Amino acid sequence: MDTAKTETRQSHIIENQEEVTDVVLDAMSRAPNDRLREVMESLVRHLHAFAREVRLTEEEFEQGVDFLNRIGQATNDAHNEGVLASDALGFSTLVCLLNNGQNGATETAAALLGPFWRMHSPATENGGSIIRSQTPGPALFAGCRITDPEGQPIEGVEIDVWQASPAGLYENQDPDQANMNLRGKFRTDAEGRIAFRSVKPAGYPVPTDGPVGELLRAQLRHPYRPAHLHFLCFKPGYRTLITQIFVDDDEHLESDVVFGVTRHLIGDFAQGTGEPPAADVNGPWYRLAYEFVMEPGEATLPTPPIR
Ligand code: BEZ
Ligand code: FE
Repeated sequence: MDTAKTETRQSHIIENQEEVTDVVLDAMSRAPNDRLREVMESLVRHLHAFAREVRLTEEEFEQGVDFLNRIGQATNDAHNEGVLASDALGFSTLVCLLNNGQNGATETAAALLGPFWRMHSPATENGGSIIRSQTPGPALFAGCRITDPEGQPIEGVEIDVWQASPAGLYENQDPDQANMNLRGKFRTDAEGRIAFRSVKPAGYPVPTDGPVGELLRAQLRHPYRPAHLHFLCFKPGYRTLITQIFVDDDEHLESDVVFGVTRHLIGDFAQGTGEPPAADVNGPWYRLAYEFVMEPGEATLPTPPIR
């Protein structure tokens, strides 16, 4: 039901700083959309409280506005500085954990999407490789199984997989990689399984040539993400599962710059012994086995942060 206020204050002339918040809340109070009103009222309250708490100076206010403007200016079809900023502030992880795991009540297998998911990853047969141009790093053979909360396999889940090259860049950041290198779209079989070949992921720095990089340097924070693989699991009738699996021995596992690591998401990347699964494997190789649980619910897709 629409509960927007119809009566407003007589005057919006401001007498002193203490009045500003109430006057602004009053001006916004007739918004017919209940949710917009709720979100904006809370935002204004917290924003004003923040300025009072830190006694924000005019120079700092200008700096903040400039920071926001530059986030916009640094964003384009191939790079999303806005998502990166939310990630580096822990905001993306907070929103993810609030909205998954029974609305934040229990552990969840979900993790932040990050700025590098692209739609239309190449459909790849089960067991196929997502290495589409020469890529360094030890071979990785991954096998994943998707079940419902009762442990029953889910057939026909579309799973996007994407990762950075061990050189530290996603293909869209790197002219030396083929289009869609280390990206693929799989479909679970009757046992709920997918399998693919890739390279063992390596940790990498998030882009630091924009305003987020400046903030990290000012806070003496390193820019590294621990090595990981991204997954987006989609099937109508199930809540879309967006997640990442982290390499267990990564030096930055405990200090992810974007706060994406939860215990649940640390994978077991076991070094293979004996005969490798493919004849062209030279040197060490790894296996990853991981089980995902998808909850019944609405299947939605996020807006791709880049094209
Ligand atoms: C990523 O894992 O792709 C990522 C996530 C957050 C910020 C930058 C990169
Ligand atoms: Fe990533």
